Amino acid sequence: MTASELDALRVDAARGHADWGAGALIVCDRLVRIYIAEGIEVQALQGLDLVVDAGELTALVGASGSGKSTLMNILAGLDAPTAGGVRVAGHDLAAMTARQRLSYRRAVVGFIWQQTARNLLPYLTGLQNVELPLRLAGSRRGARRQRSGELLDLLGVPHCAGRRPDQMSGGEQQRVAIAVALANSPAVLLADEPTGELDSVTAESVFGALQTANRELGVTVLVVTHDPAVSSMVRRVIAIRDGRTSTETLRHSAGDGSGDGHAVEYAVLDRAGRLQLPLEMTEALGMRDRVRLEPEPDHIGVWPDRGAPSGGDPPLSADSPGDPRTSIRPGDFEDGSE
Ligand SMILES: Nc1ncnc2c1ncn2[C@@H]1O[C@H](COP(=O)(O)OP(=O)(O)OP(=O)(O)O)[C@@H](O)[C@H]1O
Ligand SMILES: [Mg+2]
Repeated sequence: MTASELDALRVDAARGHADWGAGALIVCDRLVRIYIAEGIEVQALQGLDLVVDAGELTALVGASGSGKSTLMNILAGLDAPTAGGVRVAGHDLAAMTARQRLSYRRAVVGFIWQQTARNLLPYLTGLQNVELPLRLAGSRRGARRQRSGELLDLLGVPHCAGRRPDQMSGGEQQRVAIAVALANSPAVLLADEPTGELDSVTAESVFGALQTANRELGVTVLVVTHDPAVSSMVRRVIAIRDGRTSTETLRHSAGDGSGDGHAVEYAVLDRAGRLQLPLEMTEALGMRDRVRLEPEPDHIGVWPDRGAPSGGDPPLSADSPGDPRTSIRPGDFEDGSE
């Protein structure tokens, strides 16, 4: 990407509606991250839009290399975007100095890595690990000890208070790591495949700890996962494809408190009006290069290009089953959040 193309992206971003994402806790606005490795340019994020409200527990899924960790690292203040806007709890991450980034990392976000060994200091006990960020934030000894104990209790690992990480199971280490990440009451908890190294039963207990943190402390949680069991346990699942948000699955509550509501998959319509059609739909209908759009009163019909510009108009009523089209109705793009 050239400098002028980047400028164009920045101008595009500035042109967007001023109130877009207003009131949301996390707002990514046409986020771009380009890596240059050995002279080769990799566009890890290609204009990603994302809005997450305070209090949500959201799962992020996507193929390997789709940009999930790149996004998490930017939200965590560990990396900076190449272009585009990113705001978390009122902090503009694209405009931060190194010093501001450090205090942001200490106070606003908590981060949990996939590698259990990376989350805890090996020579400190569970309790000391949780106390460390509190100490760095200037919390007093008594208050520190009390908060650390309470967090270990909440996450179901009080027995790990006096143990070093090598005396804990992988799942226990991750639950202590969640306590460490929560110590300074961050607004957002970010977890990049926190259950990736664990068996399914242990993974469920770690994910349960994230749910507990979300429910009991109100912290907003964004968790990257490959685990279909985890994605079935959250209300909102966002899929990333080629560095952009492509689809969202929202689980609507059943209304009987059972939590078994039906899940509906939505395509994401970005701010520029772009939409990714799922590969399985376009392939099945032989759609490529271009499609024809037919506006209807309540939806838009998407038709494969059959190479015949004259005649062959799609039937006016496009509702008969078996029509070679993808149908888009307004309800398909409702946010669905309560
Ligand atoms: N530091 C880096 N230097 C160069 N390229 C990078 C760097 N980090 C990531 N990439 C590239 O950016 C793209 C996105 O990588 P990213 O790690 O965000 O993917 P991911 O969705 O987290 O994948 P996975 O599921 O395997 O963890 C990939 O093509 C990757 O090779
Ligand atoms: Mg990753």
